[in-house]
Amino acid sequence: MWKRMITAGLMCIFYLLAIAQSKLIVQADKPVAKIQPTMWGIFFEDINFGADGGLYAELIKNRSFEFTKPLMGWKVLKGNNENVLILNRSKETPKNPRFAEIKIGADQKPIGIENEGFRGMGVKQGVGYTFSVEAKMSQGGPGIIHGQLIGSDKKALGSVSISVKGANWQSYKADFVCASTDEKAHFVVWFEGAGTYNVDMLSLFPHDTWKNRPGGLRKDLVQLLADMKPGFIRFPGGCIVEGRNLANRYQWKNTVGPTNQRQVIMNRWNTEFAHKQTPDYFQSFGLGFYEYFQLAEDIGAEALPIINCGMACQFNSAETVDTTDLGSYVQDALDLIEFANGSVQTKWGRLRAKLGHPAPFNLKMMGIGNENWGPQYITRLKIFTTAIKKQYPNIEFVNSSGTDPSGERFDYLNTRLRKMHADIIDEHYYRNPAWFLANARRYDDYPRDGSKIFAGEYAAQSDKIASPDNKNNWQCALSEAAFMTGLERNAAVVKMASYAPLLAHVDAWQWTPDLIWFNNLHAYGTPNYYVQKLFSTNKGTEVVPITLNSESIAGQDSLYATACLDQTAHELILKLVNVSKDQKHHEIDLKGIKRANDIISLTILQNSNLQTCNSLQQPEAIVPVNKNMNEKGNTLNLDLAPYSFTVVHIALK
Ligand code: AHR
Repeated sequence: MWKRMITAGLMCIFYLLAIAQSKLIVQADKPVAKIQPTMWGIFFEDINFGADGGLYAELIKNRSFEFTKPLMGWKVLKGNNENVLILNRSKETPKNPRFAEIKIGADQKPIGIENEGFRGMGVKQGVGYTFSVEAKMSQGGPGIIHGQLIGSDKKALGSVSISVKGANWQSYKADFVCASTDEKAHFVVWFEGAGTYNVDMLSLFPHDTWKNRPGGLRKDLVQLLADMKPGFIRFPGGCIVEGRNLANRYQWKNTVGPTNQRQVIMNRWNTEFAHKQTPDYFQSFGLGFYEYFQLAEDIGAEALPIINCGMACQFNSAETVDTTDLGSYVQDALDLIEFANGSVQTKWGRLRAKLGHPAPFNLKMMGIGNENWGPQYITRLKIFTTAIKKQYPNIEFVNSSGTDPSGERFDYLNTRLRKMHADIIDEHYYRNPAWFLANARRYDDYPRDGSKIFAGEYAAQSDKIASPDNKNNWQCALSEAAFMTGLERNAAVVKMASYAPLLAHVDAWQWTPDLIWFNNLHAYGTPNYYVQKLFSTNKGTEVVPITLNSESIAGQDSLYATACLDQTAHELILKLVNVSKDQKHHEIDLKGIKRANDIISLTILQNSNLQTCNSLQQPEAIVPVNKNMNEKGNTLNLDLAPYSFTVVHIALK
C-alpha cells in the first residue's frame, strides 16, 4: 500500500516537474543587451546580373561598345558588318574610348543595329521610355536615327526618330510610350540617309524607375529591399571589391560622375565558374557609389562601403600591392570618406554636391578588404587603419576574418584582429542547414567586450558551396531563422548581419542560393527573404531573456527562441522557430510585463514540406500569415506549427 502511494506520489512529482520544465520563461524586466539599429541589413554585390541587367534599369547591354567584343549584344540588320566599324578615340575620352561608325552610301537603304538587352528587355504597356544617344555626322547628313522597340512576336511596341546634324558630338533623346508588355523585347536603332554616323552611349530607360529618377533603378527590386527596412546596406560586395586581379578591382572613383566617363570593366563573375560562364557580364557602373549612397538614404539604411585593401581575390590571382605602393589605395579610402561626409568646400564633397547632394551622407563605417586573409592582409590593414583613424577617428572599421567561420585562417585572423582591437570583425558562413542549427549558440561565449561581430555573409546551402543545385528551400530558410535567434540573443556582441548574395536574374545567375530572384519584369522573395524581413521588421530595441530549464533556447525540443522589447512601440516581441515535423505546444510565462490588452498578434511563416521553394510561378508558396488570438494574463499557450517560424507581438502598457 505504502509502496503504491509513494510510487504514485513520485509520478505526480515527475509529471509536475515535466510541466514546469517545459515552460518557457520570459524575463521582460531584465534586459541583457541593446539591439543596434543596424542589426539586420542587406549585402549588395553585382553578381547574378544584380546591377547591370538587374537593379540598374538600363535596358541596352553594351551601350558604349566597351565589352571585350565591342559588338557583343548587338546584331547588324539589313547591312553587313562592313557598314559598322568600331573606332577608338582613347586620347579624347580614355575612359570611354570606343564608338560605332555606321556608313550609309547614297543609294543605300537604312541599316539597323539591334540590341538584345539583358536576356531580352522587360517593357510595360503604357509606360514611357527614353531613348538617348550621343551622336554626330562625321560625313554628310543630316541623318535620321530611328529607335524602335520590338516585341518577342516581332511587332513594334514603340518608336522614335531623331535628326542628327553636325560634326560635333551631341546628346539626343526622345520619348515614347510602350504599346504592350513584353518580357523579352529588343531594341533596333535604324540609320536613315546617306552619311557617316558616329554613335556612342545608346541607352533606353523606363520612366517608372524608383522615385521616377531618370536613368535610375528598377522600382520593384528597390521596393523589395525597402520593405525589409534594412539597418544598413553593404556594397559593392563581395569578391567584386577584390577583382580577379588588381586591374579588375572595384575603384569607386571610376563609378561617379557622368555615366559616359565611368570606365566599363569585365565583371569578375563573367568567367568565375566553368559551369556558369557569362561572357556578356560587364560592369557599366551606371549604379555607382553616388547611387549606392542615395539608395542607402532612400531606404533608411546606413551605408557600409567595402574598399579594396590592396589585394586581389586570393581564390584567383591573389595579386597583392607592395606596401610601398599602397598610398593611392589608402588615399582612395580617405577620399571616399570626404566624398560621403566632407563639406562642399572640399574636393570630393564638392563633387557630391555637384552630383545633387550637398548635405553629407553621414558615413559612419567602412570595410577594409572583403574576404582577405593571411599576414599580408594584417600588414595592409594596419597601414589603412593608422592612416584613416588619424584623420577620421570616428569611422568604424569592418575587418575580414577570411572565408570561413573556423579553421586556421579564421583563428589566425580572429586572434590578430582582437589584439588590434578591431572595431567590427566580419564573419562569413556558407554552410549546410545542420551547421546553422548546431551553431545557434555560436556567440553565447564570445567576449562581451572588445570587437563586435558583423555576420557579413551567410546563407544555408542545400548542396555544396557554389553548387548550381543549391536551392532557396524552406529547410535552408528555417535553419537560418533558428540561427538568427542566436544572433539576436547575442546582440551584445553581434552588431550587424546580412544574408548573401542578395539578387539573382533567373536567366543569368552564377551563384545560388540568393535572397531575391527576378526576371525582366517580375521579382519574388524567397522563404529566406521573408525570414530576413521578419527579423528586420520586428527588430526591437533590447534583448530580454527567454529560457527553458534556465537555459537559452537553442535546440531543446526542436525549439529556437529569442525575445526582445521594442521600447518605442511598447511591445514585447518573441521569435520562435520550431524545426520539428510535429506541432509543439508551449506554455510561456511572461514575467515583468503589464499587458495593454488581451490580444496576441502572430505572424507565421510555415510549410510542412522542407523542400518547398517560392518561384516566379508560385511566388507566395511560403509567405508570412498574420493572425490574432485572445489570451488573458501573463501565461501564453502557443501551438507552434510543424516547421514554422512565429513572431509574437504583445502590447505593453
Ligand atoms: O556572396 C558571393 C561571394 O561569396 C562573395 O562575393 C564573397 O565575398 C563570398 O565568397
